[in-house]
Amino acid sequence: MSNLLIAGNWKMNKGPEEAQKLLKEIRANLDGRKLTSQVAVFPPYVSIHTAKEVLDETPVFIGAQNVHESSPGAFTGEVSSSMLLEAGCSHVIIGHSERREHFGESNELVARKARRAINDGLKVILCVGETLQERKKNRHQKVVMEQLRSVLQQLTEENANSLTIAYEPVWAIGTGETATPQQAQEMHAFIRNYLTELWSTQALSGLKILYGGSMKPENAMELLKQEDVDGGLIGGASLKAESFCEIINIAENLSR
Ligand code: 13P
Repeated sequence: MSNLLIAGNWKMNKGPEEAQKLLKEIRANLDGRKLTSQVAVFPPYVSIHTAKEVLDETPVFIGAQNVHESSPGAFTGEVSSSMLLEAGCSHVIIGHSERREHFGESNELVARKARRAINDGLKVILCVGETLQERKKNRHQKVVMEQLRSVLQQLTEENANSLTIAYEPVWAIGTGETATPQQAQEMHAFIRNYLTELWSTQALSGLKILYGGSMKPENAMELLKQEDVDGGLIGGASLKAESFCEIINIAENLSR
């Protein structure tokens, strides 16, 4: 297991003013500390500039929550990966279940976005995860494998260091219901194993698999302790400096 990555996905929350307040609190908490784990925040587009300003000269990565799959051009309302890079993003979340569900993003579209973003120089956090119905029908591994396969066939193992996987069971997102540490570990091991079938162990040595879905200070330790859990993608608990920083502290205590 590598050092842990704690990432906050703010979703459609925090315009520039609120973002500044939250980020200043996070910064105050991290200033002067030497972190072993990695930290990243994913504000909405309009607050990326603020994040860049407040987090200047800190090791905190900044990312976006979505990106378009084309180069700049006539796509009203969209943002390209080259623009994200220019705005100070190093990362982008792609394939979040909320985008798949509410905006009809298919595995194919997710794959095109991932390829474009990586080719342009962004690091991608690729979200995968099954619905409750799929888990009840015992199809969870098959669904996740399909989601992974469509993206991985657009990439090569040279891209492995630009890729992070986030396992986010849809039934655990924003519901307060978390996967048990055993369920998380089982799926993370399955994902790692699947990746190993396609790419070399050497290429995969730094690839992280994050868990996302109602992670909070109360359950972070048990989840992050699992052998194949390399960090967390945190929604609700990343909107308050106190809970986000508490999870960072837990990751620091576990850092190896
Ligand atoms: P919650 O932590 O609010 O369940 O959200 C998880 C998530 O979707 C992160 O991307």
